[in-house]
This record gives sequence, C-alpha cells and structure tokens, in this order.
Amino acid sequence: MARVICITSGKGGVGKTTVTANLGTALALSGSSVCLIDADFGLRNLDIPLGLGNRVRYHISDFLTGQCALHQVIVKDKRISTLSFISCSNDAVHHDDPQVFGEVVQQIAQNYDYVLIDSPAGIENGFWNAALAADEAIVVTTPHRTSLQDADRVIGLLEDMIPAPPQLIVNMADGQEARSATVKMQDIIDILNIGVTGVIHADVEIIRSVHKGIPIALNPEFESGLRFRHIAHNVAKNQQEPFISLKSKRHISVFSLPQRLRWGKSSSL
Ligand SMILES: Nc1ncnc2c1ncn2[C@@H]1O[C@H](COP(=O)(O)OP(=O)(O)OP(=O)(O)O)[C@@H](O)[C@H]1O
Ligand SMILES: [Mg+2]
Repeated sequence: MARVICITSGKGGVGKTTVTANLGTALALSGSSVCLIDADFGLRNLDIPLGLGNRVRYHISDFLTGQCALHQVIVKDKRISTLSFISCSNDAVHHDDPQVFGEVVQQIAQNYDYVLIDSPAGIENGFWNAALAADEAIVVTTPHRTSLQDADRVIGLLEDMIPAPPQLIVNMADGQEARSATVKMQDIIDILNIGVTGVIHADVEIIRSVHKGIPIALNPEFESGLRFRHIAHNVAKNQQEPFISLKSKRHISVFSLPQRLRWGKSSSL
C-alpha cells in the first residue's frame, strides 16, 4: 500500500506542481513505484513539467463517470518505468467529492509505493479533496510573507486532518529579490514550526526544464536536480537532513560533519 502524500500550499504559484513532478521523478529514479495525480480540477497542468501532455487520453473524471477503466487513465512514463501519472479534467465539470476521490486514491494506492497528489491553491473544495485523500502532507512555501501566512493557515488545517505532522519545502529560496524582501530560513522555521524536508532555490534551469517537459530531477548536473533527489531521500527515510552542496562538501570535508549538518545559520540552504 502506497504512502499517499498531498503536495499543498494555500497560496497559488509557489511551486506545488513543480515539486510534485520532480519529487515524484526522484522517488521513481530511486526504484520506488510512484503514481502522480493531478487534483487541480479545472486548472490541471502537472502534465507540462512531466512532458506527458500528449500521452493523456483519459482523465480521472472519465473513470469517475464510468467512461473508462482505471488502467486507462494511468499514463506510464517512458523514461522511468516506475513513474506513472493520472490527469484530471480541465473543464468546468468538477468531480471533487472528497469521499469519491478518496476511494479512488485508495484503489490506486494498492499498486504503488508512493502516490503524490498535486493539490490546487486555496482552501476550497479542491484542497479538501486532495488533503482528505492523503495520509501525509508536504506544504510548499516561498520565503515571502504572503506565502508563509497562507502556509501557516494550511498547516493548521492539515494538523487537524492528517495524523502525520506536515513537512515543509521552501521553494524559490535565495532569489533575485533584495534580502529585505524575503524571510530568512531560520525565521521561516520559527514561524511555521514544522520539519523542513528540503529547500529549492529560484533557478532558471527549473523554468527551462518545465518548458522542455523534462523534470530537472532527471539531471544531476544541475544543483536543483540534486536537491530534488535529496528531498526524495529525506521523504523515503522520514528524515529532514539539510542539503549540502558539492561546493560546501569540499569546503567542510576536513571538519566533523554531524554538528554542522543541523538547520541553522551555518547550514547550507
Ligand atoms: N524553484 C523555482 N525556480 C524558478 N521557477 C520556479 C521554481 N519553482 C517553480 N517555478 C516556476 O513558477 C511557476 C509556478 O510554479 P507551479 O506551477 O509549480 O506552482 P503551483 O503552486 O503549482 O501553482 P498553482 O497554485 O497555480 O497550481 C512555474 O512557471 C514554474 O516553472
Ligand atoms: Mg499547480
């Protein structure tokens, strides 16, 4: 039975879909069987970073309305045999009854190690649909006050819904803005008070990878690719080890690692 993890945020545009595509790719690369479900009914776009748009024939809504069998909505990635993807409808007809959706997710979960659900923004029906179907949640935030406030609200809701404590991914960290426009890592940890599974920097290579439909997690030459693989390792091991860049590794290789591997001012973001 799969671990079912909902990727959510509250605020829109912070990187949920990017994280779902790349975390799923990285987990699948490590040998786990993974199914990614786009639960952003009406505004689906998980097919784009995965580069699987032209392979989608049926949506989960088609299965829910009895128009096809479950196996027909599953798109298998040709690059990674252990990665599958399920799209949802992009029209005004929603099938986001949490109970019905949850039952389908349970059915899907029987055949995988991980099911990742890409949640829509906001805390309306779509959010509940995705969160109630999951037994774990990863909250994505950027280091901006507005995003953190929404993440805080969502974390409060998730804590009442899902027994496992939600985990945090800080996306678009270390961007072009002046430092005074973003919140420092230690302050994010203090404000949200949940475990940090990973940090992804603002990176033009991620935008390029989305454009090409090739998840950056497939490419270990880019630091963001390595960071997504590191997050997958943390998720698999249920741990929150910080990422150490190759540059930092060389720099600190003569020192003892354990004390330096904790989140804090000296940690590598
Ligand atoms: N670390 C990053 N660096 C640069 N660009 C990024 C990064 N993460 C995501 N993006 C870009 O930001 C935009 C929004 O990302 P994404 O679609 O993943 O967000 P989302 O939270 O799923 O949005 P929505 O709430 O609309 O579903 C996309 O164009 C994506 O390519
Ligand atoms: Mg999205």
